[in-house]
Amino acid sequence: MAIGSKQICGAVANLRGTIRVPGDKSISHRALLFGAIAEGNTEIEGLLPAEDPLSTANCLRAMGVEVSEISVGVNVVVKGVGLNGLQEPESILDCGNSGTTMRLMLGLIAGCHGRHFILDGDQSLRTRPMGRVAKPLGQMGAQISGRKQGNLAPLAIAGAALKGKILHTLVASAQVKSALLLAALTAEGPTTVIEPSLSRDHSERMLRAFGAQLVSNPLAPEVHLQPGHQLHGQRVVVPGDISSAAFWLVAGLLTPGTELILENVGLNPSRTGILTVLNAMGAAVECLEHRVVAGEPVGDLRVKTSPLKAFTIGGELIPTLIDEIPILAVAALAAEGTSVIKDAAELRVKETDRLAVMARQLRAMGAEIEETADGLVIPGSQKLRGAMLDSETDHRVAMSLAIAALNAEGPSQIARAEAAAVSYPSFWEHLAKIQA
Ligand code: S3P
Repeated sequence: MAIGSKQICGAVANLRGTIRVPGDKSISHRALLFGAIAEGNTEIEGLLPAEDPLSTANCLRAMGVEVSEISVGVNVVVKGVGLNGLQEPESILDCGNSGTTMRLMLGLIAGCHGRHFILDGDQSLRTRPMGRVAKPLGQMGAQISGRKQGNLAPLAIAGAALKGKILHTLVASAQVKSALLLAALTAEGPTTVIEPSLSRDHSERMLRAFGAQLVSNPLAPEVHLQPGHQLHGQRVVVPGDISSAAFWLVAGLLTPGTELILENVGLNPSRTGILTVLNAMGAAVECLEHRVVAGEPVGDLRVKTSPLKAFTIGGELIPTLIDEIPILAVAALAAEGTSVIKDAAELRVKETDRLAVMARQLRAMGAEIEETADGLVIPGSQKLRGAMLDSETDHRVAMSLAIAALNAEGPSQIARAEAAAVSYPSFWEHLAKIQA
């Protein structure tokens, strides 16, 4: 077997057990970033110890922020340097594979006047659009240059004094919104960010907890930030990542004789589109013990094998389940009827072109799938056969293919399976545990 590939035997049954999925990736990045520019210490419980948040932590360390060691089960302490305390790094800031790191970092450093920064990343990140952040930051006065008119990394940032603005974003992207809010913290005058529809609101919740003066419009996807307030270090408790739980939800639904409990899953309504869709498909997913932990709703989920009906998704639902579309495609193959995913062109600029990659890889298992410009059309009741598969370096593709392979006839091999470590380093261990 090639290094980094995983063998999955197909046609499994009776998955059993309890899984505590690792910390939410979006909340982990934000806890590190906001902690870095707060005054005093921030203690983070449940931070995701995966490659993406490590990229954020390493960039912050390179700018003089003390971040304690990140490892499983250990609270992380960030010693804040205040809103204007980031130092000019001696070398490039390496964002690895992490779009969230690069985009939020742009907002964090654009206003550091007198300091110079270079942001770079891996081969995948160098192809991802950064103009969606660099352009509105430019309207605030930021000086960002890069390949393709500032759209592609490596990016050079000459820190500049920023001015608050009213900004309309072109895509419903929490990365774009969060970058603009970070820049707004040190700008002169207030900033309003208006999105086409609401993206995940972890930044708004956490910035408010840190002491930022921020008002969300309850009737529109609009946030208003008034600068001039210091952030204060907090204790942050990171819930489990619903995007990681999604793999086990679909595995539980598709695998005969299964019952799984997923503990401590974040249930922020701007992230629970996957539950809305699974519910409409007739899935037996139950929420036990709904509670609020450190400003974020959390619950335990119980999932049992269920017959599923096809779904059609698009519009404002898409940002609430954007990262779950690859695994929803796997669920669609087993459902009764044809499922349709539309308005999801954003998937083409994720870690890979996830529409093309999922269609290609699932076809290798014998699936019939139609790829459209902004989505997929997936006939249901399809039987998959085990095959030679490839994550194509994308973490969510690796894990979605693993769940598809569990339910295929015959064994599969997934190349570049190590990609899962970007967001879920213990995924393969958890997969073995529920099969035992
Ligand atoms: C994220 C937002 C989403 C998501 C990504 C994490 C975040 O991206 O796909 O995995 O932490 O803000 P967009 O904001 O670009 O939609």
